[in-house]
Amino acid sequence: MTAEITRVGVIGLGTMGAGIVEVFAKAGLQVIGVDGTQELAERGRGFLQASTGRSVKRERITEQEQHDLLDRVTWTVDYTALADCDLIVEAVPERLEIKTSIFTELDGVVRADAVLASNTSSLSLTQIAAATAHPHRVVGMHFFNPAPVLALVEVITTVLSDDDVVRRVRDLAEDVGKKPVVVRDRAGFVANALLITYLARAIRMYETGHVSRADLDAAAKVGVGFPMGPLTLSDLIGLDVVKEVCDVLYDATHDPAAAPPALLQQLVAAGRLGRKTGSGFYDYEEPGSGAVVQARLPGGPHAAAYVVVIGDSAQASSLADQIGSGGGSSVEWVSTHGARDSLAGIEVVILAGESGTISPDWVRDLVATMDAGSTLAVAARGGSAATPSAPAGVNVVVLRTHLQTRAGQLAEVLRPRASTDLQVLHKTLEAAGFVVSVGRLRAGGVLEALLYPHLNDAARMLDSGYATAADIDTAMMAGCGYPEGPLAMIDRIGPAQVAAVLAVMRDETGEAALTPSPLLREHAVSGQPLHD
Ligand code: 3HC
Repeated sequence: MTAEITRVGVIGLGTMGAGIVEVFAKAGLQVIGVDGTQELAERGRGFLQASTGRSVKRERITEQEQHDLLDRVTWTVDYTALADCDLIVEAVPERLEIKTSIFTELDGVVRADAVLASNTSSLSLTQIAAATAHPHRVVGMHFFNPAPVLALVEVITTVLSDDDVVRRVRDLAEDVGKKPVVVRDRAGFVANALLITYLARAIRMYETGHVSRADLDAAAKVGVGFPMGPLTLSDLIGLDVVKEVCDVLYDATHDPAAAPPALLQQLVAAGRLGRKTGSGFYDYEEPGSGAVVQARLPGGPHAAAYVVVIGDSAQASSLADQIGSGGGSSVEWVSTHGARDSLAGIEVVILAGESGTISPDWVRDLVATMDAGSTLAVAARGGSAATPSAPAGVNVVVLRTHLQTRAGQLAEVLRPRASTDLQVLHKTLEAAGFVVSVGRLRAGGVLEALLYPHLNDAARMLDSGYATAADIDTAMMAGCGYPEGPLAMIDRIGPAQVAAVLAVMRDETGEAALTPSPLLREHAVSGQPLHD
């Protein structure tokens, strides 16, 4: 078997296939791009031209380099052009019967020492390999969208794969600038098993009215620091693809969290497949574009003229500073003990005492002095959410502010009733520089309810022995642009904290899947990090 791979065939020239062509051609390899019809092959050429044109515009490559790159690619509908390739990567739609028939056909075309790879995102690679005469030379080579940008390549092995083939493919991935993670064949592998289950949960949070689509995406992007929110990401991946992977994961695991949510099924049935069709969870300016057509924002009230912050905590002090320096409102900061007798005429009051320093009776007395239509925001840390009872007409909500990430600083506002009028508080927090996410008053709020089950899944995957902590974190960082891996996030937040919030969420919802994984509980008790 020749060691070097210099000539690569790519079958299927959609978004992923064309992106894979770009990766190889950019690294200096000769590439043969094949699709079923001349139009599809031309479309692939168009994708590559546009993508490399963008790189020229952004001065990442010169025009000459673009020209040379395009020159290294041949576009065809003829499989026999693959006869001399060292490696063929298949990237056609996720239908087992289409993939197996292509691999069977390749047996009669390619050299005996050629490596065959599938970019399947979730199908059984073992079944694909078994459809060929030489299953030992079949591996998975799973790229992430957009392939030219994201570094992860999951190299999937089967019980039949030849070790030398696996090594060559892993080395090639490294040579073309990618981060390979080698894992065994299992539904969803590492990244999709975690990511798509997370997306399905997020879609369910949106479809049940827990949070609006923009506020859900803001919680992930601004609160966690993910590169995009789950609904924007689902639209990027393609809702049909998200649903297909959900189906495969659910069939394999019967995990209700991975089942395709009803809304996802309906959008797919309606042909709203995301960016590629111009509409999905969001509407886009045109098919293929990432520019969202924004709903017209309603006008409405401005920030509260005057805000009272009550409490002696560091959080009270920083909230008072931030709101004051935002310029939208004047702020009066009152100590817990010297609090005002009356809050009449104040539209927004924020209570941010150290826990235990504010008695419920005292809060009840204060709220009784507030005007109907005004809002009391009780600042709280994570975990369970509860508000003091209030007379009718006063809006009482929970406020959770988060640390600054690369996309801004999130303020979660959790309301007991959908009818709670939060416009003035919303504007007040925005004027103070926060990105606001409004959700229902439930354990975990928006951010933790979105993130912690995902972290729990990662801990469960580690516990299953399928992948190492380093591989899981690398996969999510290099494949999905996470600022840190899910297991590193657990270590930073603290296993005990993550486990405690999950347990409260489980108790509130009765959902067994929210039970902290045994490994998480073990580390919560020992206090040891998940990473050695
Ligand atoms: N093709 C080529 N390059 C692209 C691109 C594309 N489709 N989209 C963006 N880029 C490049 C831009 O040109 C820019 O390059 P530069 O730094 O050289 O100027 C760079 O990526 C950053 O792009 P932008 O500034 O326009 O936007 P962002 O910083 O928001 O990045 C993103 C866009 C790379 C898509 C980022 O938001 C991201 O990483 N999102 C997460 C995507 C993700 O999770 N993908 C995995 C999906 S799961 C999957 O694919 C598996 C499948 O089996 C389901």
